[in-house]
Amino acid sequence: MGNTIIIVAMTEDRVIGKNGTIPWHIGEDLRLFKELTLGKPVIMGRKTYESLGRPLSDRRNLVVSRTMDPVPGVEVYENLERALGAAREDGLDVYLIGGESIYREGLRYADTLYISLVKESYPGDTRFPPVDETQWKLSESREYEDFTFTVWKKTRPPGS
Ligand SMILES: NC(=O)c1ccc[n+]([C@@H]2O[C@H](COP(=O)([O-])OP(=O)(O)OC[C@H]3O[C@@H](n4cnc5c(N)ncnc54)[C@H](OP(=O)(O)O)[C@@H]3O)[C@@H](O)[C@H]2O)c1
Repeated sequence: MGNTIIIVAMTEDRVIGKNGTIPWHIGEDLRLFKELTLGKPVIMGRKTYESLGRPLSDRRNLVVSRTMDPVPGVEVYENLERALGAAREDGLDVYLIGGESIYREGLRYADTLYISLVKESYPGDTRFPPVDETQWKLSESREYEDFTFTVWKKTRPPGS
């Protein structure tokens, strides 16, 4: 089985979104997101899907929703467990790409966190949940102009 990876960009005070969108535009981070997720299944909440407006290309798009009807290029699942079960069928790394509700629930299933820590601060209305630092170990950190890319590995088996 592949890894279950949460990928997020957030400010120092954990802001990830405002009014249904991401309050910054950092091209280098978007390129990194694309490079990492290309060819892999991506799981997202319905609001994040709506903010994208269309499926992400060359990736299996799985949306968690109790209200959305399936659309071409998108699989809809009624809860995160079912989406994860389906995404893991291919044995590839699975990416949880947000938003807040998916991150909150997904932290217990993830074994890896890719966090882009945005250097500038922005006001927002959605945040990445606090992470129990006794459960996660920093394994990599890379500096970019506008953000620091960090990789965290779970120190205990996911779900325990
Ligand atoms: N900075 C970043 O890296 C990043 C990444 C992604 C998103 N974002 C931002 O995050 C914000 C959106 O976050 P959000 O928490 O408001 O919305 P969200 O997680 O994208 O979507 C929430 C919706 O997903 C569905 N859902 C979530 N958990 C579910 C469950 N367990 N079972 C069934 N359905 C479930 C529900 O849809 P239904 O109501 O249809 O049932 C719920 O209303 C936006 O501002 C977006 O731009 C930021």
